[in-house]
Amino acid sequence: MDAIVLLSSDHRRIRLLFGDYRGATTDRQRRKTADTLVRELSKHTSAEERIFYPFAAQALGQDATARPHRICSAIKRHLTVLDGHRRAAQDDAMSMAQLEQDIAEHIEEDEQKLMPRLRSACEPDVLRQLGSKLERVERGAPTRPHPHKPDQAPNPLLRTPFVTWYDRIRDRVRGRAGS
Ligand SMILES: [Fe+2]
Repeated sequence: MDAIVLLSSDHRRIRLLFGDYRGATTDRQRRKTADTLVRELSKHTSAEERIFYPFAAQALGQDATARPHRICSAIKRHLTVLDGHRRAAQDDAMSMAQLEQDIAEHIEEDEQKLMPRLRSACEPDVLRQLGSKLERVERGAPTRPHPHKPDQAPNPLLRTPFVTWYDRIRDRVRGRAGS
């Protein structure tokens, strides 16, 4: 699948999940939707930071991805806060509202600025190959936020395969939906 189509469909799914969260009528529904959001956003931001932004930086220059990277770092910080609140059974509403703001900014930056420029700069075949790579990376990506990845991992154990394995084990232990 074309990389831009793939990432835009992630964005649509993430927007729908925020709508589901706001429309939830029970704590259980809210908790399950927040679980799914944390998982989907962790995978999406990981694939964009590891594959999509480096590709865009090569095609368009480093300046093109400076702001997208900054927004992704803010998303990961808020995801970490949200994940911590959820594990401590604290209220999600504030961190969820901050996260939704970051995501609106992220989607606007990706879809209104970066993606149209890449669409004009790259051959369709190149974007399809990038899409296949992104699909593979998303399948194996961490399911929880790791604020130190991929910029500077302070601990050698925090390499993606280990992180992914650890996240999936934790998800299974907690019985998180769809993991
Ligand atoms: Fe994105």
